Amino acid sequence: MSNNGDNLRSLTFSYENGTAKFTVLDQLALPHETTYVAILKIEDAWDAIRSMRIRGAPLIAIVAVLGLAVELTSNAQTVKELDGLTGGVEEVKTFVFQKMDYLKTSRPTAVNLFNAMEELKGIVDNADNTSREDVVNSIVTHAQYMLERDVSDNKAIGSHGADDLLARHTHPDGVRVVTICNTGSLATAGWGTALGVARELQNRNKLRSIAALETRPYNQGSRLTAYEIMTENMPNPCLICDSMAASYIRAKGADACVVGADRVCANGDTANKIGTFQLSIIAKEMGVDFFVASPFTTLDVDLESGDMIEIEERPPGEMLDSSGAPKGMSCWNPAFDVTPADYITGIITEKGVLRKGADGKFDVKGFVAKHS
Ligand code: MRU
Repeated sequence: MSNNGDNLRSLTFSYENGTAKFTVLDQLALPHETTYVAILKIEDAWDAIRSMRIRGAPLIAIVAVLGLAVELTSNAQTVKELDGLTGGVEEVKTFVFQKMDYLKTSRPTAVNLFNAMEELKGIVDNADNTSREDVVNSIVTHAQYMLERDVSDNKAIGSHGADDLLARHTHPDGVRVVTICNTGSLATAGWGTALGVARELQNRNKLRSIAALETRPYNQGSRLTAYEIMTENMPNPCLICDSMAASYIRAKGADACVVGADRVCANGDTANKIGTFQLSIIAKEMGVDFFVASPFTTLDVDLESGDMIEIEERPPGEMLDSSGAPKGMSCWNPAFDVTPADYITGIITEKGVLRKGADGKFDVKGFVAKHS
């Protein structure tokens, strides 16, 4: 079966006659219910991100930019406020930048959100924008472009990743993949990053098996990745607890762990879902490749190393409720960890696979400069 990820739509968006319509798939209800929730104003987008109704670094950014487009075109209250601005285009820009700053407070770790806001700010600041209509139109047009670009970048990541893995692993049946969290169509505008590599291998009949770590404490692996794997009929699927990774690799075998990213620093240190770091240690110890799949929108060359990344801590209740612990038990619930570059074999991007240089280090800045 050809696998294009199209039957797992994380959102719907249309813009006609000056009105934007935007819905997101409620990922908290998956896999049991498929419910699309309307985003009618910027607070709805912020809340969908903060509550993790939508999640995944690329999707967070896309929901923010489309939420802004809805806010400026289709929230009657905001349109009225814009009508009331009499201070010219600079006042409109200030108004818009405040909305962007608000969106940036939703979740701290995935850099895609911050990069997307910076990118949009550049678009808004363009000298050609001389009226309120220009500013709003430029945002809506660019938001739609970012939506499309995310899907095409992900497909390119899938293609580069599959090429690279197949060059390294030549078993006639293909590659045995282990992944963590959800990095598929549901985590992006479509197709996915790390799971997109598995999707591409499947399309080439070269996905030998796929193991998904359940992902603690919030179960994006067992609720969302398992759902994508089953929906797409991926071959030899296996759901495992996070604590089973070493035993699984020893018992069943694996060629490569392929994981997503929420922020990749200049030296290659990578923030991703909690549990990724320990998976990388297991991979290194057991001689399994460990690839990070990351679009350029997840690169943060301004941060030299991973110890500078702000790691989001989620409410303890999310962990207590899902673990059966007694209410009131104290716990620590970081959403992400940082995998040091030492443990990473390569970084798969839409421009190709970044490898370490002769000095054993990643040059993310150099790679970005070369491809920008
Ligand atoms: O807390 P989440 O579910 O937003 O975390 C998601 C991850 O860590 C993903 O692996 C990452 O965002 C990459 S998604 C393509």
